[in-house]
Amino acid sequence: MKEGGLRKIVAANWKMYKTRGEAEKTASELRVSMTEETAGGRRVVIFPSFTNIAAVAGVFAGHPSVSVGAQNFYPAVEGAFTGETSLNMLRDLGATWALTGHSERRHILGETDELVARKTAFALQEGFSVMLCIGETLAQREAGELDKVLSRQTESALAALPPDSLGRLAIAYEPVWAIGTGKVAGPTEALEAHAAVRALVLKLLGDAGRSVPILYGGSVKPDNAATLLELDNVDGLLVGGASLNSQSFLQIVNA
Ligand code: 13P
Repeated sequence: MKEGGLRKIVAANWKMYKTRGEAEKTASELRVSMTEETAGGRRVVIFPSFTNIAAVAGVFAGHPSVSVGAQNFYPAVEGAFTGETSLNMLRDLGATWALTGHSERRHILGETDELVARKTAFALQEGFSVMLCIGETLAQREAGELDKVLSRQTESALAALPPDSLGRLAIAYEPVWAIGTGKVAGPTEALEAHAAVRALVLKLLGDAGRSVPILYGGSVKPDNAATLLELDNVDGLLVGGASLNSQSFLQIVNA
């Protein structure tokens, strides 16, 4: 850990991959190697699909540094919302984290900043830890709108945080052009974006913003993880494709 640094978080977003048996198998392979020591003091969060949360949470029950999270939920306690899933239902399966603002939900499923803000505040209020994802598209970056997009997404999502919830918030900077493309943000691009996000968080939350972990996501692989983790203001990684295989995810956790 860098001096004064936060405890790093390495998170796996399994997206819409794996049947229950496959998820259980990968989780069990990870469990064998993830003693407290091999997790290197790092916190690990796994986001399986809804149908696999119970199985994965079962494998890691009682583990001191591995948590399980939900990729999505509907921001209401219960009600007539056909096809939706509540946080109470997810908590009941063993989820303690929730993702909000993932670019696939913003750009494929049409989630707006307003909905992302509502979901972020709701999950924190319900006692969940939240990983809020932000990030620009290639067109926005090329148009010189990086700062504008990051400010809009961060300011709207953090505008109405419930009291005493800051300790449960993490932000993941995921440039949309780096997700699933094999193009990783170079150290300069990642440094610049993470510094901008840290400045925004400090502006919005004051000094308390120093303790909000900022993770990098987008084509993280075993061979670039260590370099990314060493950068200032990179407090962890959110991994998609390379987290599906237990060996490559373990290499990233231990990078
Ligand atoms: P990849 O690691 O597959 O680029 O996905 C990143 C991501 O979207 C994690 O949430």
